[in-house]
Amino acid sequence: MIKFIHVTKEYSRSGPALDDISFHLVKGQFAFLTGHSGSGKSTALRLAHLAERPSDGEVRVSGFSSTRTSRRDVWKLRRKVGYVFQDFRLLPGRTALENVSFALEVIGSPKKQIFPRAQRLLGQVGLAPKAGAWVHELSGGEQQRVAIARALASEPLLLLADEPTGNLDDRATRGIMDLFWEINAVGMAVLMATHDLELMNRHPNARVLELDQGRLVYDSADEKPAASGEQRSPRLASGMSPVLRGEPDVDPEREPAREPELDRGPDLDLEPKLGREPEPAQETGN
Ligand SMILES: Nc1ncnc2c1ncn2[C@@H]1O[C@H](COP(=O)(O)OP(=O)(O)O)[C@@H](O)[C@H]1O
Ligand SMILES: [Mg+2]
Repeated sequence: MIKFIHVTKEYSRSGPALDDISFHLVKGQFAFLTGHSGSGKSTALRLAHLAERPSDGEVRVSGFSSTRTSRRDVWKLRRKVGYVFQDFRLLPGRTALENVSFALEVIGSPKKQIFPRAQRLLGQVGLAPKAGAWVHELSGGEQQRVAIARALASEPLLLLADEPTGNLDDRATRGIMDLFWEINAVGMAVLMATHDLELMNRHPNARVLELDQGRLVYDSADEKPAASGEQRSPRLASGMSPVLRGEPDVDPEREPAREPELDRGPDLDLEPKLGREPEPAQETGN
């Protein structure tokens, strides 16, 4: 579904935004892409959409490749991969229904089918009653639902989401996460960037990929499953950066450099239970 093969992305002399990243997200998998602000999450998602090309290495997505797919053909990928943004990016001055209809038009849906399909998509995201509402009349959570309906218009097999709950309150966040899980349950892979530790702890079965200053420092798929089958990032569980602990976002430029904490070891098989705060790491002795 998505394969990053030794991917590096450099924007400037100040060091790579992504540094030799390799991972493989398979069909139907749900993965959080985490790390504090500036760690490279958005860059990775843009590369996964072939909106940008790596400086080195290769990104493969749904049969497309950053080294072989021409810019002219990128639109074909866009039909197979949905994208959801933190700030929704809906068309202003239009209704929810018009926003979704427009997406269907763009992908060339037959005219007669556009209206019923748009209605059905809004129904899928729980917004049927608000189909006729102007987007500015909708709450943040509702706007994000419209954006998700729009992303689903082409029936993609993969959804990329860049901090999709970043502008939402807790209740709306839960609603959107429930929606992502429903979408995932019917077989769509989801790669979702977030630095919300609490949110990730509520979904302990999701895969976690963690970036730190452009490097992939943790992948829960590399761990042996814990006894219960749940997997957890030792870094997340052991309480790491303030960002990942859910404290206010900080400018990475102004923060002291953090040491990679990975070598504290994969032996920390902690299993924070749903709804509980993560506990400090403890030596398990095995
Ligand atoms: N278009 C760009 N031009 C130059 N630098 C960029 C660009 N996009 C991202 N960066 C830099 O790459 C690093 C990673 O940024 P980003 O992927 O946005 O991180 P995150 O989404 O985790 O906050 C940051 O240092 C950022 O300043
Ligand atoms: Mg970002």
